[in-house]
Amino acid sequence: MMTTFAKSLDDLTTLTIYMEVMKKFISDMLVTAVERYANGYSLLRLTPKDGTLPPIEAGQFVQVRIDDTPGVMLRRPISVNFVDRKQGELWLLVHSIGTGTQWLTNRMPGQTINLVFPLGKGFSLISSSPSLLVGGGVGTAPLLYLASKLHEQGQQVYALLGARSAADVLQRELFEQYATVCITTEDGSSGERGLVTQHSIWNQQQFARIYTCGPKPMMKAVAQMAHKLGVSCEASLENMMACGLGACLCCVEDTRNGNLCVCKEGPVFNTDELKW
Ligand SMILES: Cc1cc2nc3c(=O)[nH]c(=O)nc-3n(C[C@H](O)[C@H](O)[C@H](O)COP(=O)(O)OP(=O)(O)OC[C@H]3O[C@@H](n4cnc5c(N)ncnc54)[C@H](O)[C@@H]3O)c2cc1C
Ligand code: FES
Repeated sequence: MMTTFAKSLDDLTTLTIYMEVMKKFISDMLVTAVERYANGYSLLRLTPKDGTLPPIEAGQFVQVRIDDTPGVMLRRPISVNFVDRKQGELWLLVHSIGTGTQWLTNRMPGQTINLVFPLGKGFSLISSSPSLLVGGGVGTAPLLYLASKLHEQGQQVYALLGARSAADVLQRELFEQYATVCITTEDGSSGERGLVTQHSIWNQQQFARIYTCGPKPMMKAVAQMAHKLGVSCEASLENMMACGLGACLCCVEDTRNGNLCVCKEGPVFNTDELKW
């Protein structure tokens, strides 16, 4: 993997830490395809301009440099949605909610995006089955790659996807390649009406492990369900981040093991470790 060397203060900082850790890459990626979904969601398929993709765990994330946008100084953290080894592609599923994510969702094939990756600690893959993956909104992003990894291990996987309405249910067909998919929508326009914690699958099936990513209140409710059922649960946190490398301390979470940087010690935590 070739790296693209520092062009800015931001890159000098990350480059220094990169050299210490020797596991992170600063890389220019070519946008090979963009799929635009309803309600401001886009899927970007990226391939390294030089070299191949390094090993990437499900649950790890990238820091994207937002170019030519004077108001946006810091990189933006985005989960790895999927790694397609055959095509040499890394996918990002992005919801446009502000300047940085709008810039990302507006990218076109043939353009270049600079990433620092792979960052953080991913989900732990256990051998017992079945697993339940619970995602809300764009929080389903890291769960697609996780579903593929668990499926690869021969595990039975259930993906419970929650959204406001049918148009916000993302990548359903892709999840169906690896998992039995259950849907809840708040307006009942797809799947069962209500919240993910109200889906009937909870009463129909026992699980060996639960994984969740999405809005914090949803993850807290899922963690409580898991605790009640006596099932181990991992959650991927989306605290605000700046450096993404454990240097600035702006992403700290107060856990039972003290203050931990979500970008470095997470973003995935066992929910028993969290003060929820
Ligand atoms: C580890 C991690 C993984 C993520 N994965 C994805 C992903 O796969 N797809 C995706 O679309 N988004 C993801 N996010 C969220 C994404 O990073 C933020 O939406 C983005 O940084 C917002 O930048 P912006 O410039 O568009 O918005 P800004 O203009 O910076 O902010 C717009 C609004 O969003 C709020 N906001 C900014 N960052 C966050 C955040 N981290 N959590 C909640 N609210 C925020 C701000 O308070 C503000 O109200 C992830 C965040 C983290 C920490
Ligand atoms: S974002 Fe800087 S320490 Fe986590």
